[in-house]
Amino acid sequence: MFKTLVQSLVCLALAAPALASDITYRKDIRPLWNAQCAACHGASSPYLGDFLENKDKYTKMMKGPRMDTYADLIFFVGWPDTGAIMRRLDDGENRKGGKPGNMYQYLGTTDAERQKNFKTFKAWVGEDAWTHKRWDKKGDMPAVTKEELSKMKVMY
Ligand code: HEC
Repeated sequence: MFKTLVQSLVCLALAAPALASDITYRKDIRPLWNAQCAACHGASSPYLGDFLENKDKYTKMMKGPRMDTYADLIFFVGWPDTGAIMRRLDDGENRKGGKPGNMYQYLGTTDAERQKNFKTFKAWVGEDAWTHKRWDKKGDMPAVTKEELSKMKVMY
């Protein structure tokens, strides 16, 4: 009896997909970011304030806003650029028209790789926190709520 219980628990543990809470910046996101995002969002890129003031100039130079540390990256998840990571990296599956966000392409060179890395980002932010909402309402899109913000995981 005891043995079967242990066996089923072990089976459960093995069968369970990696828990979202297992995804951390240090272990998963940082290496992924280094490989796929650093070239255009690294230390030679402008901070968001500067970027927004000179968006056209930097975009032409293929420089996006700088997000090369944990603190600078979560800026684009929670606040002030709420939902930017989610809007830009989205695979389009749950979107009207199914169009992926314009940074989705950089998640990998093959569909399989992009999907895998997309899932890693999504699990890091939190499955239930993957919202496209901004801090302020825009058009038909309401502003993010405190409840939605509190579901964001972004573990270090
Ligand atoms: C080849 C260069 C390039 C790569 C690689 C790249 N980006 Fe970007 N990214 C840009 C540029 C240029 C912009 C600004 C233009 C725009 O808004 O599309 C941008 C904008 C963004 C924004 C929007 C910021 C805002 O203004 O709200 C986010 C979020 C973002 N990128 C995330 C990422 C992530 C995450 C990766 C890695 C998976 C990545 N990008 C890879 C060039 C790149």
